[in-house]
Amino acid sequence: MPSLVVIGSQWGDEGKGKIVDYLASKADLVARFQGGANAGHTVVVEGTQFILHQIPSGIIFPQPACVIGNGVVIDPGGFSEERRGLEDSGIATAGRIKISGKAHLLLDYHKVLDREREITLGKGKIGTTGRGIGPAYEDKISRCGVRVMDLKHTGKLREKIAANVGLKNKTLESIGSKARVDVDQIVAEALEHRDEFLEMEADVSLLIHEQLAQGRNVLLEGAQGLMLDVDHGTYPFVTSSNTSIGGALAGLGIGPKTIDNVLGVVKAYTTRVGNGPLPTELTGPDGERLRELGAEYGATTGRPRRCGWFDAVVTRYSQRINGLTGLVVTKLDVLDTLEEIKICNAYSYKGRTLTEFPHDPDVLEGCEPIYETMQGWQSSTNGVTEYDKLPPRARAYLERVGEIMDCPIQFVSVGVQRDEIINRGYGF
Ligand code: GDP
Ligand code: IMO
Ligand code: MG
Repeated sequence: MPSLVVIGSQWGDEGKGKIVDYLASKADLVARFQGGANAGHTVVVEGTQFILHQIPSGIIFPQPACVIGNGVVIDPGGFSEERRGLEDSGIATAGRIKISGKAHLLLDYHKVLDREREITLGKGKIGTTGRGIGPAYEDKISRCGVRVMDLKHTGKLREKIAANVGLKNKTLESIGSKARVDVDQIVAEALEHRDEFLEMEADVSLLIHEQLAQGRNVLLEGAQGLMLDVDHGTYPFVTSSNTSIGGALAGLGIGPKTIDNVLGVVKAYTTRVGNGPLPTELTGPDGERLRELGAEYGATTGRPRRCGWFDAVVTRYSQRINGLTGLVVTKLDVLDTLEEIKICNAYSYKGRTLTEFPHDPDVLEGCEPIYETMQGWQSSTNGVTEYDKLPPRARAYLERVGEIMDCPIQFVSVGVQRDEIINRGYGF
């Protein structure tokens, strides 16, 4: 039963897309289990860059089936556009993508509400991607969502959408927004993609069980990262789904014993896009330097990412919540030119040393990172494919990270290209 989950272990954008693509060379099925078009997963193959938002990053290799689980909220228009973009670049998608009938449709009213609410929140805004994610999950939880399988019954679909439109317009009015949504337009949007979606509609849970029973390699792709998890992240500055391991089980309809390995992806430093706490954030020239070296601009919104040192308090927390069995450290090459590199291994709070991530946001606010300083290696790691060929100080840095985390580093990524990776003998 070879199954592997890839989970972001910081605030998203750790390089999950690159890793999932790399692992997909041996996968029979790649499944997304949560999130939606808020994700931006970058894959670079022979100089061509693909940014996947809703389609699993396994799509670039020709063989894996690509599956979207019930835990995803799917924007039909965005999905079709993404699919066309792939086809235009020579990536075959026909017959390869399956979508759970239980996945919820993310419709225009969700996007309107997301954006208008952020405007109302002003300075206190979350800094969402504006893709409608929060409102779509709200509908799911309040049991008025429209699911992919609802496309089968046009009459009922219209009734559901009409009821929702009435409520959405009342909400818009109550928050002082002048925006309004229209039933006909939303129904037309849903129906435009009806045939395409019904062709892909499937019982994803069953599909995955069948693949696992046949001993096939199944790769599960997380979106966002642990610190954006709606339960375990820096609430309320989070996304609206469980980005942690529980999201993989609930979002696909599989049990815990079907999971063999959980790989936590971490950048060799830390980034965050959007608002909310970031304990090791570097403001000023040091942060800007990391941003420029790492080209840290959002793959979905183009916003500059906030940058800081590696925070092992955060990544150890990910290990606890997700039960990580291995680590992937990405973007090591971004640190190549630095004279000194810092690792935060604990926080100082009112004279006390905290080694576990505080669950109370008021405590977190009063925390200062405690750093260990390591010497930089100041030579290029780009394109190195063997661990022993890394500069000794780069190895010392990685070994310290592995030691602090008490988790084996199984892959080290040293560049954007698919083959710029050190595989320490691990895969399916
Ligand atoms: P994801 O959301 O976790 O898939 O990550 P994103 O694609 O949003 O952001 C990661 C960015 O870093 C992308 O631009 C990748 O091309 C790039 N990247 C991934 N791995 C590496 C690496 O090892 N080195 C460098 N320099 N860039 C990388
Ligand atoms: P990938 O999969 C980084 C952030 C947004 C905002 C918060 C809530 O590429 O790692 P939302 O639109 O989800 O309601 O926004 O979450 N966010 C991400 N940050 N990477 C992502 O995805 C993100 N998806 C959402 O910036 O702070
Ligand atoms: Mg991203």
